[in-house]
Amino acid sequence: MSQITSKLQIATTTDEVRRTVRAAQAAGETVGFVPTMGALHEGHLSLVDASEAQCDRTVVSIFVNPTQFGPNEDRDRYPRTLEKDCEMLADRGCWLVFAPTDAEVYPPDHETFVEVGKSAEPLEGQIRPGHFRGVATVVLKLFQMVPADRAFFGRKDYQQSLVVQKMATDFNLPIEIVVCPTIRESDGLAMSSRNAYLTPTERQQAANLWKSLMLAESLYQSGERNTEIISEHMRELLAQAGIDQIDYIAFVAEGTVDPVDHITGRTVVAIAARVGQARLIDNHTIG
Ligand code: PAF
Repeated sequence: MSQITSKLQIATTTDEVRRTVRAAQAAGETVGFVPTMGALHEGHLSLVDASEAQCDRTVVSIFVNPTQFGPNEDRDRYPRTLEKDCEMLADRGCWLVFAPTDAEVYPPDHETFVEVGKSAEPLEGQIRPGHFRGVATVVLKLFQMVPADRAFFGRKDYQQSLVVQKMATDFNLPIEIVVCPTIRESDGLAMSSRNAYLTPTERQQAANLWKSLMLAESLYQSGERNTEIISEHMRELLAQAGIDQIDYIAFVAEGTVDPVDHITGRTVVAIAARVGQARLIDNHTIG
């Protein structure tokens, strides 16, 4: 295990991280866990802050999980900025970074995967087959490696948080899942490691995802309840901004992935679109 600063340590093996977490728990401390794929931004750091506020110690994992990427996705070019990430985490008071190699997490003879259910089927699950199988598998493995008391996830990945919560319940995992609000740039763009793929022009264009969600909100506020009509207006706004590769605009009942045609209660508007080389997702709750 290496000591990065006087406070931050970095572990690369399961034995090291598990032993260190268990020792803290044996001394009566609670441990919070923030699983990430690195390329950290304020969104991740807000999860660290939440963990720091609720737990005595915070562990952050940095691992670009190969099993959640499809064959034509961005696994190889996903930004990897470990040194900078560690500096940011040290500044934020993080205690321990877990940065395993691919072979540590998936030895060559690894063969067992989590079979995800209904909450993983539509939306991201439909566009990215196998994605949530990979997410659920790595999160379950990370929970075994880092036996923390609480784990923190961002609301930007709405469906991911549902899949993880369901897995934790269905598998009786002794960990509390905490979902924290999306952190946005000043023009509303949800923070994401994939924003790094955007050129300056695309970066401006990308803010229209949030504008389209705000349009949904204002149409709802002015009495519109038909989600097809709201969706058409959102598509028009996005088309005017030059965003025409929309994977989906979906309306689902809060806390589920059940589609909503007519809004009667809290409804999540979820959007996924491609802007240049980046595939971006975002969501907003109305109702
Ligand atoms: O949200 C992410 O960054 C990843 O999907 C996660 C939860 C770290 C699993 O690889």
